Amino acid sequence: MKKVIVTGGTGFIGSHTVVELLQRGYDVVVADDLSNSKASVIDRIAEITGEKPILEIIDLSDRTACLRFFKMHSDADAVIHFAAAKAVGESVLHPLHYYRNNLDSLLYVLEGMEKAGCRKLVYSSSCTVYGQPEHLPVTEDTPRQPATCPYANTKRVSEDILADVVHGYEAGKQKGTLEADYKPWKILALRYFNPIGAHPSALIGELPNGVPNNLMPYITQTAAGLRPCLQVFGDDYDTPDGTPIRDYIHVCDLADAHVAAMEYMDKGGFEGMDYFNLGAGHGYSVLEVIQSFERSTGQKLNYKIAGRREGDIEQIWADASKANRLLGWKAKRSLDEMTLSAWKWQESLSKTI
Ligand code: UFG
Repeated sequence: MKKVIVTGGTGFIGSHTVVELLQRGYDVVVADDLSNSKASVIDRIAEITGEKPILEIIDLSDRTACLRFFKMHSDADAVIHFAAAKAVGESVLHPLHYYRNNLDSLLYVLEGMEKAGCRKLVYSSSCTVYGQPEHLPVTEDTPRQPATCPYANTKRVSEDILADVVHGYEAGKQKGTLEADYKPWKILALRYFNPIGAHPSALIGELPNGVPNNLMPYITQTAAGLRPCLQVFGDDYDTPDGTPIRDYIHVCDLADAHVAAMEYMDKGGFEGMDYFNLGAGHGYSVLEVIQSFERSTGQKLNYKIAGRREGDIEQIWADASKANRLLGWKAKRSLDEMTLSAWKWQESLSKTI
């Protein structure tokens, strides 16, 4: 059984990926500081899968703790590194916290992996690295743009750090300075588009802290009566209905992609670094998401058009054909499945977590 370290494994995407890994026979160790999630998620994962992953409560930006953790789990075959802070607005207010939390932890994870001889990494990147692209859909070769906030910059810089680690390895190999049994670095940066939805069991899902920043939890909390009204940020964009367009992807499809990525790294021939867009390949406007929510759940949503949100891009969606070609992965679930599962999760939340 292959052991995989999943950092941030109690978070939204992390928990769904842990479920998928356990169901596919992987042995999972979760490392999480629980700063934006709850330890009880582990019990929910166990309820779904019948397997309880180990949870190590650890701040990975604490170098000593992080290296100790990797020493303890030096038999791990691979790492999936989700752990990071991800709120755009918060990152503007607290840039140093974002750089320290997201970049220090990456550096220490890499150092821990290097020392443990575990050099297979799946990294959570984001479509935010593309900014507002000139041509749509975006491929992995679409040029990255300067980041619009510290959070987005941590994703961009993290990709650069990973590329440098791989270059360092390749240079060492060329010069013959590596030990004979040095395992090659294999790194996949997965650029997520907009993950929404929840596990069909409604036992795990997104648990935003306080007032949600993102569209889907705001919709479900409004429908549940926790928020009075959803504000649609702008209807004067150059899109068919005037509201911004994103590529929404079901979190379970995203979880599947991580297993496909793990299998890909084990295939002969791959070493170094590669990038994959993980999106459904369709763009939906904010109003289309609202319509899907009302259609799939039968709930009426209270919303009003408000002004644009600062820093929002107009439209983006993915060309995900590279992931299909090389990973054999494709997003399968519809927008209605996404909005309905998000609602079922919201309903289940009133029953405690
Ligand atoms: N939106 C509203 N009202 C809201 C919230 C959002 O109209 O209350 C609109 C936004 O204007 C945008 C769309 O819904 O057009 C999606 O917004 P999100 O906040 O859900 O997601 P973003 O596309 O803005 O992406 C942000 C970050 C990404 C990150 C993603 C998920 O920029 O880097 O959230 O956390 F990956």
